[in-house]
Amino acid sequence: MNKGILAGIVLAAAGFAAGRFLPVQAPPAVLPAPPVTAVAAPAAGAPVRSVAGPAPQREVTVEEGGSIQAAVTAAQPGTVIRIKPGRYHESVYIDKDDIRLIGVIEAGKRPVLDGEGNLNDAILYSGNNVVIENLELRAYKGNGIMGQAGNNFEIRNNVVVGTGVYGIFPQLGQNGIVEHNVVSGIADAAIYVGMSDNIHVAHNEVFDSVAGIEIENSRHAIVENNYVHDNAGGLLAFITPGLPIKTTYDVVFRHNFVLHNNHVNFGAPGSTVAGIPSGTGILVMAADDVIIEGNVIADNKTIGVLIVDHAHASNITADPESDPNSDRVAILDNTMLHNGYDTITDVKALMLAELKQGEADIVRAGPSTGSCIRNRERYVTAGVGDFAECGFADTYDRVNYLLPPVPPRVIESAERGKVAYLGICSGCHVYSGRLIGPPVQVIQALYMDNPQALADYIAKPVKKRPDYPEMPPQDYLDPQTRLAVAQYMLSLSK
Ligand code: HEC
Repeated sequence: MNKGILAGIVLAAAGFAAGRFLPVQAPPAVLPAPPVTAVAAPAAGAPVRSVAGPAPQREVTVEEGGSIQAAVTAAQPGTVIRIKPGRYHESVYIDKDDIRLIGVIEAGKRPVLDGEGNLNDAILYSGNNVVIENLELRAYKGNGIMGQAGNNFEIRNNVVVGTGVYGIFPQLGQNGIVEHNVVSGIADAAIYVGMSDNIHVAHNEVFDSVAGIEIENSRHAIVENNYVHDNAGGLLAFITPGLPIKTTYDVVFRHNFVLHNNHVNFGAPGSTVAGIPSGTGILVMAADDVIIEGNVIADNKTIGVLIVDHAHASNITADPESDPNSDRVAILDNTMLHNGYDTITDVKALMLAELKQGEADIVRAGPSTGSCIRNRERYVTAGVGDFAECGFADTYDRVNYLLPPVPPRVIESAERGKVAYLGICSGCHVYSGRLIGPPVQVIQALYMDNPQALADYIAKPVKKRPDYPEMPPQDYLDPQTRLAVAQYMLSLSK
């Protein structure tokens, strides 16, 4: 997540005030519905509801007192690992395909993976066709569930509380479902879909986190029927510049409750999400073809829906390969009530520039071409005067963007460093900007001639910078992969 939205709005307001972006009230054109993309649901038959590859062939059970990791290590691909209720204090790494970790719920009790505030990650997977269900994850420092380049994943019906930087974080995967999870108390994003395609995020409750659900550098995602409340920012679709995948487009936010996302922003000081103004319902930044439909967006004190480009967010190093604008945004019928009632001066300035009164539901700053809005008179808006009338009312033609199981991602040994970098490090490091960790350029200056020293550092990081959080140890990667990722990181040039 980028920082500087707030500062960005200052810029936008100055632009308006100086007459740089005079609001133009063109007679609205009517825009047709975007075509359902070629990668969408299969043409015939029932929509895909399960993506995780072949049916399992065997089953093992882990009892309280046993080790989940030991069961994973011993398991052949095609194993269901059932985990009985009880407390487990461990981190679980799944580096093989076709593994299902399924909690057994008895009398309302689930298995609890408790990091006790000293373990980094609850579950990391890099295999394909991984299913993680019915678990409770608590008190980790890094991630609740992080996927690193696995395809065809299902993450379902888990309770994730206070697991550090991210709650559920599939990174660099294709074809995945994140549904019926309850995620809270996360210092960055409760659910963070990064650099992924064909994703369905539905029926989750996310709250008390800095960001609710983020769709970042990802395509073909539907986010529906979620209850997103009491975060600093609710739903976000955006591009983080400097990552190897350069686009975010074709995102549908529909039928979500996005309510009172007014939590104090407790993002790590200086961290990237720390810049979201508390009270933001939906944020679209540099993402294209985002459809906002049928949501209830209420009681978000700063703004209901904020649409911006990269140029209006400071502290973002523009990426010449990423289009900075949010184009073809479609705001269909939503219920928006009582947003923007205690907003930042910058939103007030944008309203003032258009001589608008009232509490702002929707504000757009920065260029946006091909965007549209239905029934604009229902909302209090600034900056959407040149949005056309949408010529379509809903997205019922697309049930989801899931596919029958796609081929597993096969990682050649020559690619190991690259894939580890994309799947793991790029969640916190970008080339020239600050994400969670320092820029790659800074790291290169420190380690240019010594990849082995970098590889050693990541196995056992020590705290170096007072203004950054701790870097989580990567000692679950084998030594060759650590060296390969170090070499890859040092070889980057953008
Ligand atoms: C969850 C976030 C996160 C992830 C994932 C992460 N890092 Fe970091 N990294 C950090 C933070 C935060 C720091 C700064 C720590 C400090 O200065 O105390 C850091 C610092 C570093 C440093 C600087 C060390 C020094 O001597 O100053 C290197 C090298 C590094 N990371 C490499 C990596 C590599 C390689 C990966 C992927 C395998 C990776 N990091 C994954 C957050 C992360």
